Amino acid sequence: MQAATKSVVSEELRARFARAKNVVVLTGAGVSAESGVPTFRGAGKTAVWKGMPFDVISSGAKLDRDLPAVWEWFNYRRGVLRTLKPNPAHEAIARWQDRFERFTLVTQNVDGLHHAAGSRNVIELHGSVWRARCLTCNSRSDLRASEVVAGVPSCLDCGGVMRPDVVLFGEMLPRGVFEQAAMWAESCDLCFVVGTSAVVYPAAAIPEIARAAGAYVIEVNPERTPLSNICDETLMGKAGEILPLIECTVVIENSKD
Ligand code: OAD
Repeated sequence: MQAATKSVVSEELRARFARAKNVVVLTGAGVSAESGVPTFRGAGKTAVWKGMPFDVISSGAKLDRDLPAVWEWFNYRRGVLRTLKPNPAHEAIARWQDRFERFTLVTQNVDGLHHAAGSRNVIELHGSVWRARCLTCNSRSDLRASEVVAGVPSCLDCGGVMRPDVVLFGEMLPRGVFEQAAMWAESCDLCFVVGTSAVVYPAAAIPEIARAAGAYVIEVNPERTPLSNICDETLMGKAGEILPLIECTVVIENSKD
């Protein structure tokens, strides 16, 4: 156990983690994999639902053509997510928010598991399956308490048709959300990229921005990604095993002082 700790977490990373003041973490589907949430890509596979690749059923074009089918997919996803719990990676990230002077969590995930683990002020680049948005008046509603498990919900304010409050393929991110994440990336000293294939932009630009601004960038992923080459370190493995290890290593080191 001790040997594994030494080989995974470098002296450099330990030292930087111990003295970091401004930390940004970007997460993707892989951070939720150990909770049982399937990833979209990885291990050479692409997610498919009812014969449709996820980028077809989760697309703006599909929403325009067949909103009930898109809701069927999101209602199914909410049904699965209701049964799942945060894993040690979400929990470690939630602890980190109180450890540094400034901590920013940016996620591409729409599953709400960072909130469930106790993370506050999460920048959700791609929205949340737990919210619906009215196509007429733009009002949002929280679906957590909702008993609705099927069909297309109606807006409580105007009676209009609602859509999932999620960024679909072919759609733009909500205004200001990426800019806010980029601003913190520009000023951070340590940036973690956890469980993302780093092929979807602009999210994948966050670590690039951090690196260009001089931050130390660490990737945590069982596979290499297109970002691996710009990262200072790639820790190959599962987020739920590696993130608690980083924190634990630093605590042990500090306790010797
Ligand atoms: P992907 O499914 O593309 O990539 C998941 C990544 O997680 C892969 O690189 C895996 O190797 C890695 N992974 C798997 N298990 C892991 C574990 N236990 N610990 C750490 N990493 C692990 O997911 P994203 O990069 O998040 O967008 O995908 C980006 C966006 O594509 C999603 O937000 C979604 C999708 O289209 C929208 O829905 C708008």
